[in-house]
Amino acid sequence: AETEAERRRPTIRAAELRRLLEDLIDEIRAADDWGVPAQYIPELAAVDPAQVGAAVILADGTEIVAGDADRPFSIQSVSKVFSLAAVLGRIGDDLWRRVGREPSGTRFDSIFLLEREGGRPRNPFINAGALVTTDALLSGREPQQALSELMGLIRWIADDDEIHIDGAVANSEKATGHRNLSLIHYLASCDNLQNPPELLFGTYVHQCAIEMSCRQLARAGRGLAGLPRAPRMVSPIRARRINALMMTCGHYDGSGEFAYRVGLPGKSGVGGGILAIAPGIASIALWSPGLDEYGNSRWGTWLADRIAQAAGWSAF
Ligand code: DON
Repeated sequence: AETEAERRRPTIRAAELRRLLEDLIDEIRAADDWGVPAQYIPELAAVDPAQVGAAVILADGTEIVAGDADRPFSIQSVSKVFSLAAVLGRIGDDLWRRVGREPSGTRFDSIFLLEREGGRPRNPFINAGALVTTDALLSGREPQQALSELMGLIRWIADDDEIHIDGAVANSEKATGHRNLSLIHYLASCDNLQNPPELLFGTYVHQCAIEMSCRQLARAGRGLAGLPRAPRMVSPIRARRINALMMTCGHYDGSGEFAYRVGLPGKSGVGGGILAIAPGIASIALWSPGLDEYGNSRWGTWLADRIAQAAGWSAF
């Protein structure tokens, strides 16, 4: 009988995978139908939509990249995976007193469940829950300190010091972020905030403005993929739980569809990035700025779907 290790062995060779990524990206470029980047953050609205990149890191460390895989983009909500890992490291399961672990079935920036459920956000990936998580990361410190901790974790796991925060994107979101500010104040009114609203808001928009390329993001994802030679960002059981949350909540009200089509844990951001994890097999980062109706990368989702099917990768 097939062992678990055999079942999980990559079913595709590196050379084949390289050709696949190149072919898929050629197909996207030929279609020349890029969709529209996020409009509510002016700096993101100005990004050229005609860009697409993919990076995959396999268990033996092989890196396969295609398209605009080395161009940095705004990781936005993909950062929520790393802030969650950092906070679980700091305070452990105490976080779950303040935020739940259920999919929301609502838009990423929705406020209405927050009122219905007494100020405890459904999960750490919708904005309300990510704000609570970043509040726990801040935990009375200066924003600079909390952000350096987060950047230190990401740079270490990606093995790359050239990962930075784009101040223009942060300021652009700050200037137009009324929705997030209202979530923050609502959380405060429910006693689920520990830091001054302005400090949390500033920290959160800077966290979302981290810039990474697909290659850097795929390297950072190794910390959750349980690849044999990769550094570990969190313990295996914690990685498993973060992956479970990515599968159920990582794409907001598009999470069920992503799980159905791709079958892998994934986390999206409105910058058009997606980090997907094939446990024990690969870390995958995809990017194209045009979004679907849920605020997830349209071509990024398509790529994840096609790669998972062609390679035979699935969490199931
Ligand atoms: O808080 C916001 O609205 C953005 N900084 C991040 C949202 C986001 O990336 C949602 N993802 N698809």
